[in-house]
Amino acid sequence: MQDKLIQIRDDAQNELKRAASDAQLEQIRVKYLGRKGLLTGILRQMANVSPEERPVIGQLANQIKQQINNELSQRQQQLKTQADKGDKLDVTLPGRRIKIGKRHPITQIIKEISDIFLNLGFQIAQGPEVEWEYYNFEALNIPADHPARDMHDTFYITDNILLRTHTSPVQIRVMEKISPPIRIIAPGKAYRCDADLTHTPMFHQIEGLLVDEHTNFAQLKGILEIFIHRMFGEKTSLRFRPSFFPFTEPSAEIDIACVMCSGKGCRVCSHTGWLEILGAGMVDPAVFENVGYDPEKYVGFAFGMGIERIAMLKYGIDDIRLFFENDIRFLNQF
Ligand code: DAH
Repeated sequence: MQDKLIQIRDDAQNELKRAASDAQLEQIRVKYLGRKGLLTGILRQMANVSPEERPVIGQLANQIKQQINNELSQRQQQLKTQADKGDKLDVTLPGRRIKIGKRHPITQIIKEISDIFLNLGFQIAQGPEVEWEYYNFEALNIPADHPARDMHDTFYITDNILLRTHTSPVQIRVMEKISPPIRIIAPGKAYRCDADLTHTPMFHQIEGLLVDEHTNFAQLKGILEIFIHRMFGEKTSLRFRPSFFPFTEPSAEIDIACVMCSGKGCRVCSHTGWLEILGAGMVDPAVFENVGYDPEKYVGFAFGMGIERIAMLKYGIDDIRLFFENDIRFLNQF
């Protein structure tokens, strides 16, 4: 009899745990505690139990009845709070923020630089990344045996097709198509077989070209000064240093006062106080001849800069590879 009672209790407990609605709970109540229920049935058989055993069995039966009753109401309460939670809408909770993407920092810098030159009357030009050796080198006055080719670490595809090593070939493509006056910038990708803290095999440059009849070096200087002041702040000092590029004569490299130490000298500027950011010069007459322009009639200037380098200086980033690893924690900061 005792075993039967224990069995009834265990069964009832198991069914209660699985019950998922008030209706099911009521079914369980009727099944065990109802007038024709299992437990009630046991109590009815008490007459058959010996007088010594009767009090023990009676007590146990009552205990179990109590226990089932308790657990029944507990389960009822549980189901009620679950249902409340599901139903209620707390309109005071803050909404879920929708994550939207943003422009890559390199794209942002390209846009910033482009906007400055667009405001100065320049237009955007583009050229292919897979380029003829002719446009990348030959037409830019860099013949096959020229030592300047060594600096380019070129990815060749065939003998005369390559991945462009700079955006300068766009100059040639534009001049072949239209006649002066020309005022263009050409942002885009360039490729060199080089990889370390400050070089990636793919990187970005912006090329500039202006050709007209009365262009001079002072105008080049003025335009670049406006650009640097808008990009790095009005107080940024700059200097022109004599340099060499086969496609410009004279050529210059332009430095700005170090953005980290304001020219005092630090690790970033190798304690010189200056950072090189641009190459520029007056278009070499040999280049005009290559595109069929009269070098006696036209004068032009050109410039080129590396986007990643500018982004690194502007944001104080010391490893160029961060731009291309696409770690969302890095990209989110811009
Ligand atoms: N193409 C050069 C380079 O990649 C940069 C450059 C220098 C471009 C002088 C120019 C320029 O247009 O005038 O190193």
